[in-house]
Amino acid sequence: GRLQTSLQAYPTALESGELWTLLTQIAVAAQQRGWHLYVVGGAVRDLLLAPDGTAISLKDIDLVVDSFRSPVVEGAGVVLAQQLQKQYPNAQIQVHGEFQTAALIWRTRAGHAPLMIDIATARTEFYPYPAANPEVEPSSIRQDLYRRDFTINAMAIRLTSPQPGLLLDFFGGYLDIQQRQVRVLHANSFIEDPTRIFRAVRFAVRLGFVIAPQTETFIRYAVDSGIYADLQTQQTQRRLPALQTRLKTELSYIFQTDSWAQSLGLLDKLGALSCLHPSLSIDADLWRQLHRVGRWQQRFMEEVGEDIGVAPWLLRLEVLLARVEVRSQIATNLQLPLGSIQRLQQLAPIEAHLSDTLQQTAQPRPSFIYQTLILYDLPLLLLISVRHPQTIGTYIWQYITQLIHVHLPIDGHHLKRLGYEPGPLYRQILTALTHAILDGDITTAAASAEAYLNRHYPLAQGGS
Ligand code: CTP
Repeated sequence: GRLQTSLQAYPTALESGELWTLLTQIAVAAQQRGWHLYVVGGAVRDLLLAPDGTAISLKDIDLVVDSFRSPVVEGAGVVLAQQLQKQYPNAQIQVHGEFQTAALIWRTRAGHAPLMIDIATARTEFYPYPAANPEVEPSSIRQDLYRRDFTINAMAIRLTSPQPGLLLDFFGGYLDIQQRQVRVLHANSFIEDPTRIFRAVRFAVRLGFVIAPQTETFIRYAVDSGIYADLQTQQTQRRLPALQTRLKTELSYIFQTDSWAQSLGLLDKLGALSCLHPSLSIDADLWRQLHRVGRWQQRFMEEVGEDIGVAPWLLRLEVLLARVEVRSQIATNLQLPLGSIQRLQQLAPIEAHLSDTLQQTAQPRPSFIYQTLILYDLPLLLLISVRHPQTIGTYIWQYITQLIHVHLPIDGHHLKRLGYEPGPLYRQILTALTHAILDGDITTAAASAEAYLNRHYPLAQGGS
């Protein structure tokens, strides 16, 4: 009953109430084939967390099919999804072959988030070696729940008869929700899947839970075992790319929330940043950089009047990775966007170059700062300024707040009217004028610029 109330009230890509009808239809279809159907994972957790009778906000609903009278076939989830799609032609279907799951996706209905219903077949997973992607085989719902990360995510609600609405809670998830703790199901959980450390922190921070003491011990044990230490250097390990993708997903979730600092602090305390690099930890200076980058990105954009085109969470992650020398290798492994990888690749040589160039004289001329910095794009300059606020950073700020706003009193049309022959000379003249204005040699009045031209670029006698 409570599930029905919560789901009925929840506005989705479906009409109100339609979601419940839909779940009922899938349940009937499963029942007719002699299978059980369960809601599992995050939806059950969120339902139990929500006060009675309130709508819960789900971006996806995970369903699991299990044997009841008939043995469950490997593609049972796919069979049900295909059957349902006939009744809901505006749903898209996606089949993930490897794990034999199917997703039904409703994208449309203005103003509402898309809804995804995932239908899987109950399965057991085997981890052929630590941190591998699991290999799977069909199994019972209990086994399916046992392979999951935390007790609060390892509960199921049955939708089929007998006893529809029955809560399956084999591992004490309900109690953990009441005691507000994130707890793993078994000691090897983090050895099998290091991204679970990041998930433990994410759920703890998001829900205001603690990580259970023994679970924390398992995390430390996994970290101390050193199995993550060379995660980023062992390129050859089979399936490693899939693990990196999951790691990137977790990092992006963590860095995108307002409580990123709390999560990152906890990850640091647990030693989990060694999944990224064995020597990565956060000192006071790095904390300042991480806080600075968000504020400065905002001010950068206000100054230049445009979006600099990189998500704030990504720049913050770059600041973190920039702390270690193999930064671009890690960014590549994590499959970060190409822009991020390139920035991290260029960072060391460009910082060294700027530091040499701009600090060779006590007070470089504005035109010199301008021509030095105009070669680089704004996200890179931001990253560098955040890392070197007292040195190169002050020149970058001077460039962003003053120098790039230089306004030329004269343009190409004007030069033509004055009688200059169009060609490469124009660019040269305009650059020279820009520099002269920046250095205060001339004013921004047209007459001042023309006087400068007469002196430095006199027109040939009888010129056109
Ligand atoms: N899961 C797991 N181990 C992982 C990832 C996921 O055991 N490394 C299981 C959990 O049971 C989880 C479910 O798969 O509940 C779905 O994963 P996901 O969608 O990532 O998380 P949700 O619990 O749905 O959380 P969210 O609300 O953030 O989507």
